[in-house]
Amino acid sequence: MEQIVQQIEAYKQEIAAFQPKTADELEQYRIKFLGTKGLVKALFGEMKSVPNEQKKEFGQILNAFKQLAEGKYEEFQQLKDEGAQAGHELDLTLPAEPHRLGTRHPISILRNKAIRIFERLGFTIAEGPEIEDDWHNFTALNLAENHPARDMQDTFYVNHNPDWLLRTHTSSVQARVMEQGNLPIRIICPGRVYRNETISARAHCFFHQIEGLYIAENVSFADLKQTLYYFVQEMFGKDFKVRFRPSYFPFTEPSAEMDISCLICGGEGCNVCKHTGWVEILGCGMVHPQILENCGIDSKKYTGFAFGIGIERLTMLKYQIKDLRLFSENDLRFLKQFQGTV
Ligand code: DAH
Repeated sequence: MEQIVQQIEAYKQEIAAFQPKTADELEQYRIKFLGTKGLVKALFGEMKSVPNEQKKEFGQILNAFKQLAEGKYEEFQQLKDEGAQAGHELDLTLPAEPHRLGTRHPISILRNKAIRIFERLGFTIAEGPEIEDDWHNFTALNLAENHPARDMQDTFYVNHNPDWLLRTHTSSVQARVMEQGNLPIRIICPGRVYRNETISARAHCFFHQIEGLYIAENVSFADLKQTLYYFVQEMFGKDFKVRFRPSYFPFTEPSAEMDISCLICGGEGCNVCKHTGWVEILGCGMVHPQILENCGIDSKKYTGFAFGIGIERLTMLKYQIKDLRLFSENDLRFLKQFQGTV
C-alpha cells in the first residue's frame, strides 16, 4: 500500500502541474486518468489487494485522488465549453481578450472641463452633503420658511426629519463655506442636486450644477461678468452669442441669468431652446449683504459674486443632445460616443 500511496503522490504533482494548451491535451489527460482504462479505475482495482484493516484509509486516499483528478478536468472542460460557445476551440496559447475600458460619462467630461477652467482662475473645489439641512439649503440663503421663492424649487424632504432634504442646488455649499469664515473665498462646488420635477426631455429629478463663489474686498459685477465670459469662451470657443438677463434670486442682488445662443439649432429654434434661440446656462449675481451677515461675514468690508451653472445644459449644447433623459438611461450605445480627454 505504501508504494501505491507514493505513486499517487507523484500523480497528484503531475495533475497540479497540468496546463493543457489544446483540447487534444485535455482529452489525453481524461483518457490517462479518468478513462475506463485510466489510472483512477486501476487504482480502485488495487483495493482488493489491500489488507482489510487498511481498506478504509486507502479508500479515503483514493476518493480524494479521484476528486482531484476530476476537478482539474472539469475546470478545463468548462473553459473549453466557454471557448466553444464563443465560436472557437479552447486554445490557451491565444492572447487574452483585452479588458474593454469604459468611457467617461459626458456629464463628467463637461464637469471636469469646467473645473479645469475655473482652476486656471484660482478657484478651488469645495464639497458639501447631498442630504442637507433646511438652514444651508434655504434659510441661510434668504429663503426663510414661507418665502415664496421656495416654490421655485420643488423639494424632496427626508421622511422622518422635516429638517432634512435632498439639496435642491449647490448653493447650499456656499453657506457652509462662508460659515467657516476663511476669507477671501474663491471656490467652486460641483455636485448633484435633486428636485421633485416631472421627468421630461428638459427636466429630471436629479441633475448637476457647479456653484461658484468669490468673496473678497472690492469684488464687483464687472468681475462677475468677466469671469463668466472667460468661462463660456474657454468652454465653447467663440462662435456663439452671450447675453445677461436681469433675474431674481433671494441670495443675490442684483441677479442675472446668462443665456448663450442655441448651439443645437444655431438659433433657428428647437426643443432645447424652447424655440427662442437662447439657452439659459446659469444664474448669478452679487451676494446679498444679508447672506454675508447670516454667515458671520462683515458685509461692509466684503463683497462677492456667486453663480450656479447647470452641467446638463452645457453638455447638451456641447454634444448636441436633445433629451437629457439619455444621461441616466445607461445605454452603452449612447455613452461610448464620448471620448473625453479630461
Ligand atoms: N441656485 C440657483 C438655482 O439652482 C442658481 C444660482 C443663481 C446660484 C444665482 C447662484 C446664484 O450662486 O448667485 O437655480
